Amino acid sequence: MATEKKPEFFKGAQLRVGIIGCGYVGLPLALRFAEAGHRVTGFDTDPPKVQMLNAGKSYIEHIQQAKIQQYVNSRHFGATADFSRLAENDAIIICVPTPLNEYREPDLSYVENTAKSIQPHLQKGQLIVLESTTYPGTTEELVLPILEKSGLRCPIVSGPENENVPVDFFLAFSPEREDPGNKQYGLAQIPKVVGGVNPPSGRAAQALYGQVVARVVPVSSTRAAEMTKLLENIFRCVNIALVNELKLLCQRIGMDVWEVIDAAASKPFGFMPFYPGPGLGGHCIPVDPFYLSWKAREYDFSTRFIELAGEVNTAMPYHVVESVAEALNQYRKSLKGAKLLVLGVAYKKDVDDLRESPTLKIMEILQKRGAEFDYNDPYFPHLHKMRHYDYSHMKSVPLSAETLGKYDAVIIATDHSSYDYAAIVDAAKLVIDTRNATRRVIRHRERIFAC
Ligand SMILES: NC(=O)c1ccc[n+]([C@@H]2O[C@H](COP(=O)([O-])OP(=O)(O)OC[C@H]3O[C@@H](n4cnc5c(N)ncnc54)[C@H](O)[C@@H]3O)[C@@H](O)[C@H]2O)c1
Repeated sequence: MATEKKPEFFKGAQLRVGIIGCGYVGLPLALRFAEAGHRVTGFDTDPPKVQMLNAGKSYIEHIQQAKIQQYVNSRHFGATADFSRLAENDAIIICVPTPLNEYREPDLSYVENTAKSIQPHLQKGQLIVLESTTYPGTTEELVLPILEKSGLRCPIVSGPENENVPVDFFLAFSPEREDPGNKQYGLAQIPKVVGGVNPPSGRAAQALYGQVVARVVPVSSTRAAEMTKLLENIFRCVNIALVNELKLLCQRIGMDVWEVIDAAASKPFGFMPFYPGPGLGGHCIPVDPFYLSWKAREYDFSTRFIELAGEVNTAMPYHVVESVAEALNQYRKSLKGAKLLVLGVAYKKDVDDLRESPTLKIMEILQKRGAEFDYNDPYFPHLHKMRHYDYSHMKSVPLSAETLGKYDAVIIATDHSSYDYAAIVDAAKLVIDTRNATRRVIRHRERIFAC
């Protein structure tokens, strides 16, 4: 028998919401639901995170401890690693990682394991939403069959004739649009795209998210919602590759690409500025487009824009190292044996996130080319072992005029706002600037090597 719960149920107050994966996406979402008065449980397989959350502590720089503490105290939020408690929730939202494996293919093991951990506890009338970025078809092809092993059904249908198709549980996809560190747009202000496996699932998810975001944008299917997120990120990836390529051309011609971009950005329509840099970083832009390329292969389709953008962007860290070598060469120094200081390991400014950071790649290439280097990053006092890199022996060196002056060159890899760029240029022998961070520096411009 199909559930008695109607999609409108999710417009109600004091819902019990389970969030699986309390990371950069899941934790802010959990706190937003708690803020809206719902009872939220965060599920995570990482026990230290669960402990910290229940103690009211934050492990993400831009998420305030006080907020977590407030909702833990008011019993609107708690965390657990006990997945049998999934059964207590009205809605369950999946926010687990979707990385690439060593062959740069989608690694959906986290999503698959999560679906398997929900399945034994799935209840009639529950709403399950996948938020993890992925290729179109994941919700229907991977998550749904696992959940239906419970014996409960959620048919894949669309159209007005299926407005009230009977379902045992609701299943939807809604991509996250979190931009860590963005002070202008928080979760509550960003419209949320929602697509259901069937119309009742879509309406249930719309009702739920309508409580916590300013606007819900319904689409006809989970596939459309999955593809929307990929379009957004591919758009960024391709445009960043375009300006990176134009930067290389401008450098060869002896032009300043930043001046050109700023001038073009004065056009009030039909142009959106993107800025060059040392390469792509973060959990999304370097990874997500390849989810679509991989899926496209199943249809004998080659996503050439994605591949080309990947090629251009992947070459940028190598370009940075070449620029360092060229700058040193002008001072009759070789890269091999040079003593370098890398500023910023985070993938972008003012965040404590180094996933896929191009700085890590730059350091790897520097190492291979025989350079000696230290780093400074106010967000990372020391580095840890990562999937592809092991810099666990490295500690951030304190910045002072004396230390800066000891290095043959300083590489600005991430343009954190807390850096005093004029003081850095004053004290350093040579500065390789990958972010145009020194644009306002007036003294000693002869020491700056734009790259
Ligand atoms: N970080 C962003 O800015 C951002 C923006 C938009 C979309 N996304 C997407 O959101 C998803 C999550 O990304 P994130 O940045 O929050 O990742 P994250 O690594 O910060 O957090 C994921 C959390 O899931 C936990 N986890 C892993 N496997 C689990 C399991 N089987 N059960 C329960 N918990 C598990 C991890 O311990 C971690 O706490 C990804 O698909 C990502 O592409 C991220």
